[in-house]
Amino acid sequence: MKICCIGAGYVGGPTMAMIAKQCPNISVHVVDLNSERIAAWNSDELPIYEPGLQEVVEEARGRNLEFSTNVDQAIAEADMIFISVNTPTKTYGIGAGRAANLEFIEKCARQIAKVATGHTIVVEKSTLPVRTAEAVKRILSSVNTDATFDVLSNPEFLAEGTAVDDLNDPDRVLIGGESETAIEALVEVYAHWVPREKILTTNLWSSELSKLTANAFLAQRVSSINAISALCEATGADVDEVARAIGTDSRIGPKFLKASVGFGGSCFQKDILNLVYLCEHFGLAEVAAYWEQVVTMNDYQKARFARNIVRTMFNTVSDKQIAMLGWAFKKDTNDTRESAAIYVARDLLREHARLFVYDPRVKREQIVADLEYAMKPLGQPLSQEDRRLIDSNLTVCNDAHAATDNSHAIAVMTEWDEFKTLDFKRVFQSMHQPAFVFDGRNILDRGELTAIGFEVHSIGKA
Ligand SMILES: NC(=O)c1ccc[n+]([C@@H]2O[C@H](COP(=O)([O-])OP(=O)(O)OC[C@H]3O[C@@H](n4cnc5c(N)ncnc54)[C@H](O)[C@@H]3O)[C@@H](O)[C@H]2O)c1
Repeated sequence: MKICCIGAGYVGGPTMAMIAKQCPNISVHVVDLNSERIAAWNSDELPIYEPGLQEVVEEARGRNLEFSTNVDQAIAEADMIFISVNTPTKTYGIGAGRAANLEFIEKCARQIAKVATGHTIVVEKSTLPVRTAEAVKRILSSVNTDATFDVLSNPEFLAEGTAVDDLNDPDRVLIGGESETAIEALVEVYAHWVPREKILTTNLWSSELSKLTANAFLAQRVSSINAISALCEATGADVDEVARAIGTDSRIGPKFLKASVGFGGSCFQKDILNLVYLCEHFGLAEVAAYWEQVVTMNDYQKARFARNIVRTMFNTVSDKQIAMLGWAFKKDTNDTRESAAIYVARDLLREHARLFVYDPRVKREQIVADLEYAMKPLGQPLSQEDRRLIDSNLTVCNDAHAATDNSHAIAVMTEWDEFKTLDFKRVFQSMHQPAFVFDGRNILDRGELTAIGFEVHSIGKA
């Protein structure tokens, strides 16, 4: 059997590497238009950072796992094609800022229609609005060749930072489709290592909607505990204690109850906005408003964090050095998409702070690109003032001490383990006094830092 995957990103790369590792009898060819990304997949510095991924890739690469830019060849040879391209929020036209941009999906479907041969199973791996499979099927069936197709939905539930473990031992695999034979063919692939009772099959539309719903529920928990964090700060309750107290209720459960500066990542916001857009499309205004509030609360939490920093530091951060520890949207990934750090940095730059940023896995070019994107009004160029602020007030550092030395405050933006074990006595001595710490992830020991002399501000603690 030959599998092709279009899109060698955070999902396509690790997912296909795991299939190739677990199924040595299946040949897996991952293709992408981005030749730099493909070159990195073929090197010993993979384009994405995930613990354990290098080993999985190295085990299968050159045996039954191939990365290339030969899109047409891989499509023509495949029995099964996964579409794993990006589906970002539209930035223009109808549905701008809400709907998913399906341009890349449609281009893939048209390319498959043009070059596929024989019978091919097309699998939607990307997260898509409900009923996208209908459009994919129509495009595929419009060809004048002998090629025939089945379309399946197989959304991915991995979390970045734990992708390898999630793929190795998933809570479930979800496959939606109409053809029993096609569904069984994909079940057979996963059954190489996933117990059959964990492989759920549904109709196409339930599968597409389940992915959006899962992300909406997960993000809702974060926004719910973050909403309570603001109330904790006002009342003297401690949000970590509240989370522990409610999480022991088996109906609620302990996971995803960690208060923070806000959720990030490429998926939560995009998928909720996509859900909101779908609800509006079907005339369900109240349902749309209900889910949109999850994103509104997240924006509030990020803005509130930046405002707290300014207010606490005597209502001005102008010309003050703020060490931002972490830029990725969570630990153990180099992905920065929608990271809370970007929006906090934007707000602080506009208050004329001097930002010294350190992240163990994110490079300067990415940080600058993220800020440019966040500071640009939708569809318009960066203002001269914002350009000046990025050029003159942003320093990207190679280690944490380079960021904290001489600073007025530290803002913990990502929960990287190495931040917990910094030599805080040394850090304190090198800082201006009073030395402020704003712990956006509640990972530092407040008691210890306070004893050293820091003024510590955490999320959801008075
Ligand atoms: N990142 C996650 O944690 C995650 C988890 C579950 C689901 N998803 C979903 O999976 C999908 C992919 O996400 P990602 O994070 O891997 O995106 P990504 O941006 O990292 O990767 C997508 C890749 O597709 C390539 N591409 C786009 N159009 C192409 C075309 N026509 N031909 C060949 N290559 C093409 C791009 O060059 C890019 O490398 C999205 O729908 C996302 O919502 C992501």
